[in-house]
Amino acid sequence: MQWTVASDVDGTLTGDREALDRLRARLGEQRAGGGLYLIVSTGRRLEQVTEGIREEGLPDPDAVICQVGTEIYLPPFTERSTPMDAWRTWLLSRYSRDQALLFLAGIEGLVMQPEVYNTELKTSCYLDGCADPDKTAEVIRHRVRPHADRYQVVWSSGRDLDILPAASGKGKAIRFLVEHVGLDPGRVVVAGDTGNDASMFLEFDRGVVVANAQPELVELARDLGDGRVYRARRPYAAGVEEGLEHYGVLDRAASAG
Ligand code: GLC
Repeated sequence: MQWTVASDVDGTLTGDREALDRLRARLGEQRAGGGLYLIVSTGRRLEQVTEGIREEGLPDPDAVICQVGTEIYLPPFTERSTPMDAWRTWLLSRYSRDQALLFLAGIEGLVMQPEVYNTELKTSCYLDGCADPDKTAEVIRHRVRPHADRYQVVWSSGRDLDILPAASGKGKAIRFLVEHVGLDPGRVVVAGDTGNDASMFLEFDRGVVVANAQPELVELARDLGDGRVYRARRPYAAGVEEGLEHYGVLDRAASAG
């Protein structure tokens, strides 16, 4: 029976290379047997994902969701890859970068993220230079609220704030992909560690929160309850492995020790 696993990268798959090597081997086996469709779902750009596959031991995925769910890529993953047009066009029809920038206007201490993280569909800044980052994020949320049909705020790690199309985000991108590929929406497991992973946990009812997760995701996990979210005892890839065993995606016996 095939499972779909969608995992975040930084702080979820990465952080403990030895654990990642073990998880990668086990996922690879499962994929080879046709039992797994693997989605990497990240805030990174595609070239940082392919670099991560070459250099950081990331597993080979079947699909890659980048820039916090605003871009979806299907194989082959190369420098010439372009994001799925259907997803891009749908999001573009409901997003204006000029409007997104207006929500950030005049905020003291705010620093825009580098240009590569600011795209036609993603407006991203750092708030860790603000006097009270959480409060500032609240101010921005308040500004965006009347436009919630088109825009959403994603707040992560006490530092990163993204303004994305309301129709995007990791969770909705996975849902789109599941429908596009014809995967079983009832057999999806997601894994993450920060606020930009929250939408995956809201969209699907089998989640794994690794032990090193940021408070904003731990809080959400608590609200959603144990039935929907497995809180791993172990951090990073070892936590993902533990969660996948919990849901029966990976065989429990194989990890003894
Ligand atoms: C990743 C992205 C960054 C974003 C953050 C939180 O680090 O590179 O642009 O703000 O995730 O979503």
